[in-house]
Amino acid sequence: MVESDYQINLKQRYLDHFWKKEELDKSKQKLKKKTDSELLEVNLCNLELESPLILASGILGVSSSLMTKIKKVGAGAVTTKSIGPRPRKGYKNPSIIPIDKKTFLNSIGLANPGIDYFLPEIKKLKQEKVKTIVSVFGNSIESYIEIAIKAQNAGADAIELNISCPHDNISKICQDKQLTYKYVAAVKKELKIPLFVKLSPNVTDICEIALSAEKAGADAVTAINTVNAMAIDIETQRPILSHGSGGLSGKAIHSIAIKKVYDLYKVLDIPIIGCGGIFSWKDVVEFFLAGASAVQIGSAMYQGINIISKINQGIIKFLNENNFESISDLTGIAHNFPMQTDPDF
Ligand SMILES: Cc1cc2nc3c(=O)[nH]c(=O)nc-3n(C[C@H](O)[C@H](O)[C@H](O)COP(=O)(O)O)c2cc1C
Repeated sequence: MVESDYQINLKQRYLDHFWKKEELDKSKQKLKKKTDSELLEVNLCNLELESPLILASGILGVSSSLMTKIKKVGAGAVTTKSIGPRPRKGYKNPSIIPIDKKTFLNSIGLANPGIDYFLPEIKKLKQEKVKTIVSVFGNSIESYIEIAIKAQNAGADAIELNISCPHDNISKICQDKQLTYKYVAAVKKELKIPLFVKLSPNVTDICEIALSAEKAGADAVTAINTVNAMAIDIETQRPILSHGSGGLSGKAIHSIAIKKVYDLYKVLDIPIIGCGGIFSWKDVVEFFLAGASAVQIGSAMYQGINIISKINQGIIKFLNENNFESISDLTGIAHNFPMQTDPDF
């Protein structure tokens, strides 16, 4: 059978494509000098992290010795429990319940030791060279500023502004773009270290709020905090958590978080720290593809802190096998894939 010009042309294009890809892969291999540990390094707002994996706020994050152990098993940084102006016990038990093996519902109520009692822990983390992101919340703009400055002076590497806890009044801030702007701008003005803003999925348009935070000077956003949720006991016919409702975390929220990060990547210029339902290296790679530059791990830490080193190994293997030279090579590449916008009829 004689091939038409069209067929020959098509064949040539295929051959060119694969040849180019092969050549590119070969030249990448020649160039590749990075060690496995170098492959994991990320620069997040000028913080040099040895791994893109960060402990999420509220999870094992009040004791410096535990947070130091989390660094030792390979986390690039830790985020502390959200720290407020004074000690707080939070809501009574039950304040956290499992929904299934990998999904939790909590209404801890921002239990924390208060900034003044927490300062020695930040100083110890600094001594141990643990990259420390201090999560802060306040009861006024002034108290947010005061706590952030105290944390900075004690040695915090970055501040994460918690304006999005679903079981506290502070969530009103993240639901309003003007309030978000006001709080972020006020804290940013006083800080020398990077400021991250923790976003909530419990809003109509997360992009609008994130853009407001970016405009106000946020250096990065963390997406997402827990998803508003509730569980009712059918025997007693009452809500199970003492506070009634709470925030859902873990496996069940992973796909929600991926979509939020994907949408945020389209509109933001600042980095995104992905968070929600990470249990494996595959979950992490998915966040990078959606647009995250680093990730936070929360609920999965209850399975043991060694999950961090396992995930690091999985990421290294994936990067090596697919000839990626860094995590930034992966960030956002799912956006290159053209999607069907109109349905078939
Ligand atoms: C028990 C518990 C306590 C939490 N406390 C905080 C907190 O103090 N501040 C905060 O910003 N997020 C807090 N979070 C939310 C996590 O940091 C994270 O955003 C959320 O759990 C989603 O991640 P995950 O699915 O990996 O757990 C808490 C989550 C849990 C499960």
